[in-house]
This record gives sequence, structure tokens and C-alpha cells, in this order.
Amino acid sequence: MLSYIIEGGRKLEGTILISGSKNASLPIIAGTILSSKITKLYHVPNIHDTQITLKILKLLGCKVKKERGKIVIDTKLMKKTEIPEDLMRQMRSTVIMAGAILGRFKEATFSYPGGCEIGARPIDLHLSAFRKLGINIEEKGGFIHCKCDKIIGTEINLDFPSVGATENIILATVLAEGITTITNAAMEPEIEDLAKFLNKMGAKIEGAGTNIIKITGVTQLKEVSYKVMPDRIEAGTYLCMVAATGGKVKLLNAEPEHITPILHKLQECGCMIETNQKVITLEAPKKLKAVDIKTMPYPGFPTDMQSIFGSMLTTAKGTSVLVENIFENRYKYTQELKKMGAKIQIEGKMAVIKGVRKLSASKVESHDLRGGAALVLAGLAGKGTTQVNHIEYIQRGYENLEEKLQTIGAKIKIKNT
Ligand code: EPZ
Repeated sequence: MLSYIIEGGRKLEGTILISGSKNASLPIIAGTILSSKITKLYHVPNIHDTQITLKILKLLGCKVKKERGKIVIDTKLMKKTEIPEDLMRQMRSTVIMAGAILGRFKEATFSYPGGCEIGARPIDLHLSAFRKLGINIEEKGGFIHCKCDKIIGTEINLDFPSVGATENIILATVLAEGITTITNAAMEPEIEDLAKFLNKMGAKIEGAGTNIIKITGVTQLKEVSYKVMPDRIEAGTYLCMVAATGGKVKLLNAEPEHITPILHKLQECGCMIETNQKVITLEAPKKLKAVDIKTMPYPGFPTDMQSIFGSMLTTAKGTSVLVENIFENRYKYTQELKKMGAKIQIEGKMAVIKGVRKLSASKVESHDLRGGAALVLAGLAGKGTTQVNHIEYIQRGYENLEEKLQTIGAKIKIKNT
């Protein structure tokens, strides 16, 4: 098993270059299927989740070439429409490839992505949207077979502004007949980035980033190059890691307007924050102040930052209250933080965190991507040497995490344990 060994208690200081967004890259890579041409993508982070998505493209018959800093994808010869089950299980967000495969081939087969550590994560909203688009869905033996003669645009209202369902509907209807309108659509910046990429290819998508998105079907798409947006959760993660050690950091290639709620909460904790264009600078106080957090769909406080913020607040002055409104099981990390001396009470969706003076090193287990990042933060801020186990979860979503932390003075290394 791979672990991080972290020598804590060091004030972090320096500059970090933010990588391209994991959660924008995944739907954009899926979107290359629609053009049946060559697409050049820049700034796709080299992490497990993008590697899996590119592996699926290759298994479906696409050509994928990684050159320095860019990925060249040729989907002309793609002919398979079944997403390999083992890869579906490894990464549930591969379900958005179904929309793209359906959009081009009018058929797709995939297995139930299954839940994960943060919740059941059903795909009922995806499937009911596909049915409304005239797609016939047969579920047998854990597999979902989708097929139709053509996809006809229609009005789809989402019961919940699901990011994945919004992306899947867009991918399935770019080449559809007629107009599709999504109401109560998710408004995350990654959806706006997906729409910008598809429109550059020749799609006609209006309203991405708002809760009403209109897709007018087109008949073909062209060869494009595209640079993926910066990863807003990576940016928020490093700001919190530095804040937890009382340090100072400058983030390059960050988009401040994508993380307004995080910046405001960090200021409420007592951090000095400066932003201009794609640079964010944070200077932390000696002692952070407790704050309350409620996770909401964008533009509210992002659920992906809940565990990282919660970990940072374990040593703030006062008591903080977190409310996790998006996923039903996103507090697993708190068990691990308690091994380090954190005082956290979980009551349903709520976590009450009573600030303690310092956390102490321990051996802790990652259970999911953002929960694992929260444990790295605790190790950086805590006294002594912390061992974070099962870091494969963390490597799914953070490109070169240890190198980036080392450049700002962290003592962190990977060890086979
Ligand atoms: C995306 O997941 C992100 N993943 C998640 O980031 C992020 O936490 C989430 O959006 C919310 O912002 C990617 O973009 C790859 P949802 P997604 O559909 O699309 C329920 C990370 O750490 N729901 O908006 O799966 C669902 O159970 C990951 O980078 C249904 O009930 O999220 C959840 O409670 C974790 N039925 C809520 O909606 C459905 O059909 C939000 O899910 C779909 C979703």
C-alpha cells in the first residue's frame, strides 16, 4: 500500500501553479467522441481519473497520444459502444461517457457505476433524461443497454441540479434533432467549460453556467484545440493547507471567481486574501477563527471542499458547524481526524467541530479523494510525523501533490508501507 509520510508543524510558504480541472477534463474528454475528428487538449491533469477516461477511449477504438503538455485524441475509428465494466467500477463518473457515445452512435452499454465512499450516487436523473430524449433503456444483469433510432430534443427538468446529469444531457443532445432545454440545470464552472469546448467544435449551447441551458442540435463538429480551465478544488485545497499551517501562498493559473465562497470563508477565518486575474494570494493569521459552512450546489459552498475545510477548522479558535447537503456520507474522514485529537461530533448532516490547540501525528486511512486530502492537511498542520494510508484515492484528483507541497516547504514523501 502507498502512504504519505508527512512531517507536520512547518509553516508553508511559496508559489504553486494550479493544474487543469479534473472535473472539467472528464466530460471534455468524453465530448471528443462527438466530433469523430482529431482534438488537441491542453492542461488536462495527469491523474488517475483522466488516465482511466483516456484508457476507455482507447478500448472503444480511439487513438490517444500524449505529447508534452497536450493530449491528441482521434475518435474517427471508434466503433465500440460498451464501456468496460471494470473501468466503470473504478470510476463512477465514466457514466458521462454514455451521453457522448449515445450522442454519436445512438446506442451505449454500461454497467451501474455503483456507489462509493461518499454516498449511493444513483444515476436515476441521467436515465430518466435519456428516456425523455426517446432513448430506450433496458437494464439486465447489472448492465444498462441504451438504444434509439434518433435523439429528439425536448424539455428536461432536473429534480436536483445534478452536475453529471446536466453534462450527460448536453453530450447526448449536441447532435440531436431539434432543441433541448434543461431547466434546474447545474451551474458549476466545469459545465460552462464543457459548453465552451463543444461550442468551439461547432455545437450550439446557450446558457451554460445558468440554471437554464438550451442545446440546438447540429449535424457535425470540427477539429479543435482547447485548454481546460484551472482546477478550482485543487486551488481551494492548497489555500486551506497553507492556512492551516499559518503560512503564505501565491496560486498561479487560478480563477478567483470560481471559488468566491471559499475565499470569503477563508477571510472570515482571518486570512488576508488578494486576487487579480489568475493569481490568488493568501496570508494566514497565527490562529484561524471558527466559521460555519453549509454545502450547496454552485454557486454555493462546494461539497468537495467540505472535508478539507473541516480538517482546517479542527484547530481554529471556537466551534464550527458544517452542514453537508449534497452527499449523504461525506464525514468518514472525521473518524480519522479524531485519532489525531480532533473534537468532532457528527449529527446526521451536521458536524460540530470544537477547535483544539494542535492535532498530533497518527496513522490515518484515506477513504475517498477529498477526505484523503483533508488528512494530508491535518498531517501538515499537526505535530509530529503523520502517515496517511491508501493515497491512491488522493492521487486520483491531485496532480503532483507531493512535489507541489515540497516547493512550499512541506516535508512529505511517498512510502510503500
Ligand atoms: C460531480 O459529481 C463531481 N464529479 C463531484 O466531485 C462533485 O462532488 C459533485 O459533482 C457535486 O458538485 C465530477 O464532476 C467527476 P451530482 P456528480 O450528480 O456528477 C444525487 C470530486 O471529489 N444524484 O451533482 O456525481 C447524488 O447522489 C467529486 O471531484 C441523484 O440522486 O454529482 C448527490 O447526492 C466527488 N441522482 C447529488 O445528486 C442522479 O441521477 C449531487 O450529485 C445523480 C445525482
